[in-house]
Amino acid sequence: MGKFIGREKELSILKQKVDSALGKKGSTVFLFGNAGTGKTRLVSEAIKYAKDKNFKILVGEGIKGVDVDFEVMFSALKKYLIIKDRGESDEKGKLLRAIKHASPDIVAVVPIVGDIIAAGTSLFVRYKEEQGELKPREIDSNADKDTMFNLFKEMINDLSSKVPLLLFFDNLHFADEESLKIMHYLSRLAIEKRIFIICSYDLEHVKENPQLRDTIQRMNREKLFLEMPLQNLTEPETIELVSELSKEKAGEKTAKEIYSKTNGNMFLIEEIVKNINWKNPKIELPETTKEIIEGRLKDISENDRKVLEIANAIGKQFTFSQLLEKSNLPEEKLMDSIDSLIDKKLIKEIDASKDLYEMNCII
Ligand SMILES: Nc1ncnc2c1ncn2[C@@H]1O[C@H](COP(=O)(O)OP(=O)(O)OP(=O)(O)O)[C@@H](O)[C@H]1O
Ligand SMILES: [Mg+2]
Repeated sequence: MGKFIGREKELSILKQKVDSALGKKGSTVFLFGNAGTGKTRLVSEAIKYAKDKNFKILVGEGIKGVDVDFEVMFSALKKYLIIKDRGESDEKGKLLRAIKHASPDIVAVVPIVGDIIAAGTSLFVRYKEEQGELKPREIDSNADKDTMFNLFKEMINDLSSKVPLLLFFDNLHFADEESLKIMHYLSRLAIEKRIFIICSYDLEHVKENPQLRDTIQRMNREKLFLEMPLQNLTEPETIELVSELSKEKAGEKTAKEIYSKTNGNMFLIEEIVKNINWKNPKIELPETTKEIIEGRLKDISENDRKVLEIANAIGKQFTFSQLLEKSNLPEEKLMDSIDSLIDKKLIKEIDASKDLYEMNCII
């Protein structure tokens, strides 16, 4: 992994939370931002720190298009039990091979194909064996959701009484309802235990997951988490990243141009640097990136898209009156569109007193 840039404040908070969890004052952090803002990478730095403090790490993730009960929790336990502590856990090929090697019966029931409850109960038996219970109790193969829920609770409770735990639930915007319920439960449990929970989600997708929205609201009422918004890189940080990624081939002028095209989105910066021809450096977004951005834009209304296009034509920054003049829209409609584009993080407000806005994306 390349050099880790910026994020000093965020990382220091996460490290403090790791330390507090060691003293049985666990907590939960919700880390959120747009796609590619560096959520997963930031957490991997916190994980390094926690590993040095002998934390056990469980990483589960929501997967696009997969809405299977307990999927996120199941994936965390599966990785923990099967490729325990073997470095990075997100290399799926390696993971599957490891599972196959360790336990062919589990492969047959990987969540995507089906019976997660059977798989979960068999993992539970495995867990008990690992903890030295030679004859784990029998679990009914027709176990239901409540039984599963209790098994997860029992495992995490048991594990946290033995070792400090860092639970990372990545891409929660794709999480299933049962996993969210468990996450909620665990965040209450964490308060007096050696458990630190980090959840990440992509703001743009939260609206597609009403269960996540509800869970966040309920947990908010109970004050169960700390919010940690993650912004794009600043210009100096972008320059540092470009210099690092290009092995210093990019000069400051190129780096600044990359900043103005990407607005500091790390994913886009990497894509551009990867595809640059250094003999004739031209800052262009690769096709795949364009598709991704088009995907993000596809669910906005005709009106919002029109406003966005006009804004884009004006330049990186634009004012309300410029938009009003060029769009010919009634003031109220334009205001609605601006609000909705801000909500979707496609534009941002720079100075409310001047009605000044800035593009937050490239179209
Ligand atoms: N602080 C950083 N310093 C250097 N590189 C970084 C940093 N943060 C992220 N990156 C790099 O930028 C890319 C995108 O980061 P990452 O995958 O962590 O973003 P994300 O927010 O998790 O994205 P997604 O929404 O796709 O899950 C990765 O290749 C990562 O290594
Ligand atoms: Mg990520």
